[in-house]
Amino acid sequence: MNTLTVDLGDRSYPIYIGQGLLSDASLLQSHIVGNEVLVVSNVKVAPLYLGSVLISLKGKKVESVILPDGECYKNLEILNRIFDALLERHFGRKVTLIALGGGVIGDMTGFAAACYQRGVAFIQIPTTLLSQVDSSVGGKTGVNHPMGKNMIGAFHQPQCVIADTNTLNTLDDCQLSSGIAEVIKYGLINDKSFFSWIEHNIEKLLIRDHEALAYAIERSCRDKAAIVAEDERESGVRALLNLGHTFGHAIETGMGYGAWLHGEAVAVGMLMAADLSMRMGWISADDLHRIDNLLDRSGLPTRAPVDMTEQRFLSLMSVDKKVENGHLRLVLMRSLGGSIISSDFSHVLLAETVNAHHAISA
Ligand code: NAD
Ligand code: GLY
Repeated sequence: MNTLTVDLGDRSYPIYIGQGLLSDASLLQSHIVGNEVLVVSNVKVAPLYLGSVLISLKGKKVESVILPDGECYKNLEILNRIFDALLERHFGRKVTLIALGGGVIGDMTGFAAACYQRGVAFIQIPTTLLSQVDSSVGGKTGVNHPMGKNMIGAFHQPQCVIADTNTLNTLDDCQLSSGIAEVIKYGLINDKSFFSWIEHNIEKLLIRDHEALAYAIERSCRDKAAIVAEDERESGVRALLNLGHTFGHAIETGMGYGAWLHGEAVAVGMLMAADLSMRMGWISADDLHRIDNLLDRSGLPTRAPVDMTEQRFLSLMSVDKKVENGHLRLVLMRSLGGSIISSDFSHVLLAETVNAHHAISA
């Protein structure tokens, strides 16, 4: 098992990465604050892993709530089922919530924990690659609104993150690829040698070579933890973690939540950010080709959906959380592995990028 730390002073917490961790009762129980636990999972993950987690929680007062599966259920109405369960079963302030599932369950459970009785403890047990390398770390929680992705939420840090890499064996291939998009993201933000490592090891990741996956998860979490420690509330550098997300969230919202996987939308978004960066003269055509090629080899889409016209993209992008005083800010690439956040880009070139991606796909 590898252990990393998200360094946030007295709210610091460990990320455990390893095989078979769901069955490690003493590890899990050492992070339960009181005696009461509510496990939140969904109809797909619970039959696979809830049993092991319940065995590890033996001796505690444990209940579970099983939500429907999918991004389209990441909303306030379904969130209420967690509050219903907590209230019906008379859970108090000492309850610990456990998120057992991918990023959807993690974001919703974390948000419920942030709100219930003005804040209770929670633990992340991420079971997708995407949630192990990104969403379980850093304390961003929330739900979608029909007009914007993740628009309702709170910062609320977990007690710990337990990433059992064995759970990745049951993931669908497209979900694995979706997680690889976020792994590639770290290389593009500020870790060029990691980008090269992924180029050399992508086939191993795709066949789920355990050593390669464990390394990619650890390095991704290390990169993310460093950024979160520097800027927990995203007043600066943390916005870099949204590379590709302004374009990507527009695709997810525009196509209807769940039609495109988050990582798929982020993949196209990163490519569009790279395309605009090339048009700005910041990265070379060769850099753009390397990114396009790696995403393609990872089984990820590299073109925007046909329905996303220029007008649709730009109107959805205008509700992005990075908009400041009406000015759109984007994460762009000054170099491969050197991302920046900037409003200093040409809107004519942005329109060209959007059109180029739309035109190619049409
Ligand atoms: P997801 O939670 O929908 O999981 C993907 C699918 O895999 C689901 O059908 C799920 O039931 C299934 N699944 C989960 N674990 C499985 C397993 N071990 N075996 C088989 N199937 C399994 O999606 P995701 O990709 O994990 O997360 C995407 C969500 O995360 C989005 O809502 C996105 O906005 C959010 N996100 C949040 C942050 C953050 O910082 N909070 C960062 C990135 C993404
Ligand atoms: N996934 C973006 C962030 O955690 O800030």
